[in-house]
Amino acid sequence: MTSKPVLLDRVRPAAEQPLARPGVDRASIGALVREFYSRVRKDKRLGPIFAREIAGDWESHLEKMTDFWCSVILKSGDYHGRPVPAHLKLKDVTEADFGIWLALFGETASGLFAPEVATVLAERAERIATSLKLAMFFRPGPAAGPG
Ligand code: HEM
Repeated sequence: MTSKPVLLDRVRPAAEQPLARPGVDRASIGALVREFYSRVRKDKRLGPIFAREIAGDWESHLEKMTDFWCSVILKSGDYHGRPVPAHLKLKDVTEADFGIWLALFGETASGLFAPEVATVLAERAERIATSLKLAMFFRPGPAAGPG
């Protein structure tokens, strides 16, 4: 007798689908990445952090970030990096800095895409920011024990 894993199929979250919308492609995502980092570089708090970390090598950072966002949004599989170690080494970055980053990203996306696309971009950025923040800032409290 064969049994179908019906329950498992139901409890497993559905895989995220590529965002198939006219005008959402590598060209428009690349434009978003370029506009976003041009704003980041002008920001008084984030600008100096990026200037220090990405001295002189902006073109390859922008291409890598375009690969990243195409993987996130289009499921293109272009990005093969590891975001967590890249951020763990940024010792002076705070949780408040993520608020600035997300606000700039949301504004840039709203300026370039239709509202429903901008919402998806912002939601995915927020979800990834949450896991980066957990990796960077979460310290479990001391275990409760005798004494
Ligand atoms: C205050 C917030 C943030 C700061 C200051 C920051 C800063 C940086 C810097 C300086 C790098 C370059 C590291 C290197 O090349 O050595 C980097 C890489 C990267 N960042 Fe962020 N970041 C922030 C938030 C985010 C968020 C929210 C995301 C995603 C939604 C993100 C995605 C990435 C990715 C994918 C890379 C490339 C990692 C790799 O493969 O090398 N970052 N970030």
